[in-house]
Formats: sequence, structure tokens, C-alpha cells
Amino acid sequence: MKTRQPINILAISGSLRANSSNNAVINAALNYFPPGVKVSIYEGLGSLPHFNDSKDPATEVTDLRNQLRMADGILICSPEYAFGVPGSLKNALDWTVSSGEFVNKPLALITAATGGQNAHAALLLIFTALSANLTRDTTLLVPFIRSKMNSAGVVDNPGTLNDIKNVVLALYSLICNKENEDQ
Ligand SMILES: Cc1cc2nc3c(=O)[nH]c(=O)nc-3n(C[C@H](O)[C@H](O)[C@H](O)COP(=O)(O)O)c2cc1C
Repeated sequence: MKTRQPINILAISGSLRANSSNNAVINAALNYFPPGVKVSIYEGLGSLPHFNDSKDPATEVTDLRNQLRMADGILICSPEYAFGVPGSLKNALDWTVSSGEFVNKPLALITAATGGQNAHAALLLIFTALSANLTRDTTLLVPFIRSKMNSAGVVDNPGTLNDIKNVVLALYSLICNKENEDQ
């Protein structure tokens, strides 16, 4: 299997909270990417304007679209708020509907929340609408996430870490398979 090096991953947390458990999930995932993979963390979620379908969008929107376009794969970790997808993440995704950055893009989705089923199901629907390239193996729901972290805010539950590792490796395989198909 031939792969172009390095592989670039963009990781997006759906939470803007200090001490976010989804940031902790991303930090855990970073340990499992194979050598040769560069992971960048998207920092602009809180600065995006509200979606308005402008044909001349703010630089924050152009920057989001460019970062998505440049990535070989995307990792999204999101909580559930009020039985749904966090508004700031949904806003970012709405900005990509017409520009199409997720079309056929290898994607891993981890929903980490107290329950999380509603946001997870909604995100799966959204990414179907966006034509992202995700599989059952690149998606994971982590309920009771707080109980799977230690007092320092680090994910330390062995089963959860193993599940995160499997998602990361499945994303990597998806990217490598796509690269081979594209060659
Ligand atoms: C405003 C708010 C609303 C929440 N609503 C839900 C909910 O509807 N379902 C759920 O499973 N968890 C809910 N939670 C719990 C979060 O999913 C949980 O605390 C998660 O760890 C938050 O992720 P974060 O730390 O990355 O922001 C809510 C938390 C907050 C702050």
C-alpha cells in the first residue's frame, strides 16, 4: 500500500468549554496516529460568523474551508448539548454545505457526552448530507465520558482508549485506501 507522506489530519472539537472532555478525547487520539501523520487542531470554531450564505464570506470562513480542503482526513469530537449538536459546530458545518469540503473526505466522528445518542445520530445524518466518507469503524459514541477521565482531565479508561485507538486506525486505513484509489 503506497501512501503520500505526510498525511494531514484536521481535528475539530465541537466544544468551546474550558476543560472540555472532547478536547481530552482529541488529546487521547493524538497518541494513536501512526508516524508520518501530522494532526492540526482547528482553533477557529468560536470566531466563525453565524452562517448567512454570503458569496463573499469572512476570512474566518475561508480559513475553515481551506483547512478542511488541505486535510487528508478529519477527526471530529463533539459533545451533546440540549439533546442536539452544539450550535457552534453546526454553524461551522453549515458553512461547508455549498462549498463541499466534506464531499468524499475521510472522516472520523466521536461523540463524547453524558449520553450523546441524539447528537451522534444527528451528526451522522449531517455527514450523510455532506457526503463525507465515513464508515461504522470510524464512528464512536462514548457515553458517560466524564467517568472515563481522571481528575487531571485525561481519558484513562482502558476500554475507551482502545475504542479511540480503533477509530484512529480505521480513519488512517480509510485515507490510505482512498489515496490508492486516487492514484
Ligand atoms: C449546556 C449543556 C447541555 C448538555 N446537554 C446534554 C444532553 O442533552 N445530552 C447529553 O448526553 N449530555 C449533555 N450535556 C453533558 C455533556 O455532554 C457532557 O458534560 C460532555 O462531557 C461535555 O463535553 P465538553 O466537556 O467537551 O463540552 C450537557 C452539558 C452542557 C454544558
